[in-house]
Amino acid sequence: MEFILNKESEFALDVQSGLSAINKYLPSKYFYDHRGDMLFQQIMQLPEYYLTRTEFSILNHHHSSILNPVLDLNQSFNLVEMGAGDGLKTKILIEYLHSQKVDYTYYPIDISGNVLNHLKESLENKFEGIQIQPIENIYRKALKEKIWDNDRPTLLLFLGANIGNFVLDEAKEILGIIGQALSKGDYALIGFDLKKDPELILGAYDDSQGVTRDFNLNVLNRINKELGGDFDLSKFKHWPVYNPVNGECRSYLVSLIDQEVHVEALGETFQFKKAEAIHTEVSKKYDTDELCVLAKESGFEIINDFLDDHEFFTDSLWKKM
Ligand code: AVJ
Repeated sequence: MEFILNKESEFALDVQSGLSAINKYLPSKYFYDHRGDMLFQQIMQLPEYYLTRTEFSILNHHHSSILNPVLDLNQSFNLVEMGAGDGLKTKILIEYLHSQKVDYTYYPIDISGNVLNHLKESLENKFEGIQIQPIENIYRKALKEKIWDNDRPTLLLFLGANIGNFVLDEAKEILGIIGQALSKGDYALIGFDLKKDPELILGAYDDSQGVTRDFNLNVLNRINKELGGDFDLSKFKHWPVYNPVNGECRSYLVSLIDQEVHVEALGETFQFKKAEAIHTEVSKKYDTDELCVLAKESGFEIINDFLDDHEFFTDSLWKKM
């Protein structure tokens, strides 16, 4: 097979720099190819993965209190969503908006055109006459270009603890960009996974069926398939760790032996020492003090935190000042 064409792709460049670094890393966004999307769907069903279930219960319980502030404005508005995915959680909110017969346009933003097509089709089937304008782009760009630009107020959704994949400084940057894109009086609903018993957190990233392990290893699979790599997946160990001080759950792939891996598209061979690690993901857990600082620094006032009974997770409703 020929992989030369891929050499300049973003994926190839990121693999090149990540595997050449002193502390090797691979960005977590590369988990999500077709197989990765399927594995993540399975993760969301795992007994140990409390996040999805918990956020569902929050939205089911509090959808009217969450949406009432924007409904009280009594005018048509924009419902913008970052990383809409399968949209199952958003459907709870849309269901309520539909029952209230309000006028809004839904702008789901996602990097996957495939995901967006599915979402559009299923929403149009379920909610007749829904106004939906998918935006296929990365968050930063879509926000900077402010594609939904009009005079209407906006409610921006950033659910699923997706913000957890950024370390604190990156999260501040992203929230700063969100703050810039919104106008005074606009709302943002942001899902944060909260600090809790470290055992529960670690369990969510180290499930007994090994689905999360396969998900983590999938990035190597993808290098093999798309860049002509020859990673032997059985020679790497899935190793998540949780740091209760900064709330970072980090996942690694640790080399079990001294080995070389060749990546054809890069024309490079990478050395792995026995026990050397590749950092593949961070899933940051927050506490309420950090949320206050984050909101303030990005120009928001916290209107309400919608928590579950165990206080595992919050959908935090913010208003732009
Ligand atoms: C999709 C980013 C919310 O960090 O919990 C699940 C991804 N990684 N299991 C998370 C993930 C391992 C997930 N997010």
